[in-house]
Amino acid sequence: MLPLFQTARARAGATRAHELETARLRLRLFTPEDIGELSRITRDPDVMRYIGEGRPLTRDETEYNMKTIVRAFCRRGYGRWAMVHKAGGRLLGYCGFTRLDEEVGVELAYMLSRPYWGMGLAAEAARACVRYAFDTLKLESLAALTMPGNARSRRLLENLGMSHVGDRRLRGYECVEYRIRRQDFRPDGALYLAKPLLLPPPDEETT
Ligand SMILES: CC(C)(COP(=O)(O)OP(=O)(O)OC[C@H]1O[C@@H](n2cnc3c(N)ncnc32)[C@H](O)[C@@H]1OP(=O)(O)O)[C@@H](O)C(=O)NCCC(=O)NCCS
Repeated sequence: MLPLFQTARARAGATRAHELETARLRLRLFTPEDIGELSRITRDPDVMRYIGEGRPLTRDETEYNMKTIVRAFCRRGYGRWAMVHKAGGRLLGYCGFTRLDEEVGVELAYMLSRPYWGMGLAAEAARACVRYAFDTLKLESLAALTMPGNARSRRLLENLGMSHVGDRRLRGYECVEYRIRRQDFRPDGALYLAKPLLLPPPDEETT
């Protein structure tokens, strides 16, 4: 049993959660206004090659996914944050957590707009999320599943200090499973801020 915001229902259906800030990024909740930018990212075949069915998404599919992300976030008090460039305020993708399989537990997930690859931004966001997983969510271990051919993602996970612990079939896809345990995590000196906020109940958020 994971000690994940078991007392999250703070008052009148509101859920306690956080937004994160790093040196170059803000990880905040998605809003309906993000749909245009998010759809621009998810219609890029390079970005989508190793996500889901491995194909670009329509705007409607992206909107459905975004609502799913928001609903899950409001229900659990954690999930995938919108990743925003502090310089300019542009939406760059997402980073945060999913929870798709009981046996796997909480998974790290990320997606970055193609023009921003290779700048260390995904690593910066992911490192903050790993810290949050241990500092705030109090996880004992954090997983990450990616497709075997996703070399960039695998390298990123290794750079985060995660280890390849095996292979796993999930939602019909062969995946490699990476993991980091609480005792193996060492925070670095990078800027990291976790700002508390209260989320509206899931139903209000998704209508
Ligand atoms: C995965 C992702 C977030 C990585 O972000 P990124 O900014 O591209 O990361 P980088 O370009 O800094 O590359 C990460 C590492 O992979 C290395 N790398 C880059 N291209 C590589 C390749 N073709 N083969 C192996 N390693 C590669 C980089 O050198 C870097 O390692 P280093 O810091 O030790 O040098 C980004 O590529 C992305 O959003 N991809 C699409 C979405 C996705 O696949 N998400 C994961 C789903 S599980």
